[in-house]
Amino acid sequence: MTALIGLQCHLCKASFPAEAIYVCDKCLGPLEPVYDYSSIHLTREQIERRPKNLWRYRELLPITGEPRTGFNSGYTPLVRCTRLAERLGVSELYIKDDSVNHPTLSYKDRVVSVAATRAVELGFKVLACASTGNLANSVAAHAARLGIESCVFIPDNLEAGKLLGSAIFNPTILAIAGNYDDVNRLCTQVADRYGWGFVNINLRSYYAEGAKTMGFEIVEQLGWRYPKHLISPVAGGTLLPRIVRGLRELREIGLVDGELPKVYAAQAAGCSPVVNALDAGLEYPEPVRPNTIAKSIAIGNPADGYQVIQCVKATGGAGAAVSDEAIVGAIQLLAETEGIFTEPAGGTTLAATIDLIKRGIIPPDESIVVCITGNGYKTAEVVADKLTAPVRLSRAFKEFEAWHASREAVV
Ligand SMILES: Cc1ncc(COP(=O)(O)O)c(C=O)c1O
Ligand SMILES: [Zn+2]
Repeated sequence: MTALIGLQCHLCKASFPAEAIYVCDKCLGPLEPVYDYSSIHLTREQIERRPKNLWRYRELLPITGEPRTGFNSGYTPLVRCTRLAERLGVSELYIKDDSVNHPTLSYKDRVVSVAATRAVELGFKVLACASTGNLANSVAAHAARLGIESCVFIPDNLEAGKLLGSAIFNPTILAIAGNYDDVNRLCTQVADRYGWGFVNINLRSYYAEGAKTMGFEIVEQLGWRYPKHLISPVAGGTLLPRIVRGLRELREIGLVDGELPKVYAAQAAGCSPVVNALDAGLEYPEPVRPNTIAKSIAIGNPADGYQVIQCVKATGGAGAAVSDEAIVGAIQLLAETEGIFTEPAGGTTLAATIDLIKRGIIPPDESIVVCITGNGYKTAEVVADKLTAPVRLSRAFKEFEAWHASREAVV
């Protein structure tokens, strides 16, 4: 049932077996799975009949046996947003809402479902990751479900909700004194020496493929068509290029046709190496030191920055970097207009969308999909002091009446 042939270097195209390897030993390029597309005979109807999880696209995912986890991951809502659209002055706006992805409320449940299944297939006994928070939550939950050990490495300054969201699954948590880039460097050394399955390091070739499912679902949920514009957050640079790869693959196997959407990269101004590179016309991002409330996307040296830049340019998109203030404003706007509570990564993506519309880069009369990748309940502290405090009353009816009368006077 698998179309997986092996791995290939993204840059020099050298071939490798489908093992836990992730860099080309000839040119140091990243490795990605290769499929025999001609062996895939899938119809729209076949896919639509399958369970509503990310495995409905399993022929395009890099596993050789049966899925082991992720049976409720993916197939998140694509929400048509009329009230938000009106506020932004656009006609056709959708939120792809991974803030309600199962089981840990971020897009990471897609990539971990695939990496964890592949880790079991390859015989790993410990599942590990370098994370800004959401990935650790997901690795810990999926490992618990699989009954295997997990060890997650995070920076030591994460939000309380992100820490709790891992700890509840009882993994080993190593909180490292440093930022994500320091954590990642340490994990690369550990992965080389200890033979653990680091989902985003030695299993990265498989992990990244899980992100394609966000693109597959958007096309299916739009009635098997591409949107005109798509905005994705960028941290390590996994998601954006894989959405594009997924969109291309659907066309390759005949499930959709037309022109790819223009794809835009959203970053926080306090950590925008990719947007800086796009603006400066560079092919590779120059590393930065992150300083933003958007901690889940605070990666100063993105592993797949080159691929993000290639995809944005190839589709005719652009980048937008937004202030922390704009991020919080966008979190509130999304909540108040559409009832969706996202974390700063989502605030960044929506704020970037607003900026691109205001600058006239995204026109108002074409379809727009905004990828919301994480849930706001994990990062309550970023909005807590901005919200209206509750009206405190005693149990007495007359006190309610007095409050109501005073309110009517205002309205
Ligand atoms: C909520 C959220 N959105 C987006 C991202 C983007 O990550 P990447 O660019 O590595 O796919 C991350 C991860 O680090 C995240 O936690
Ligand atoms: Zn190579």
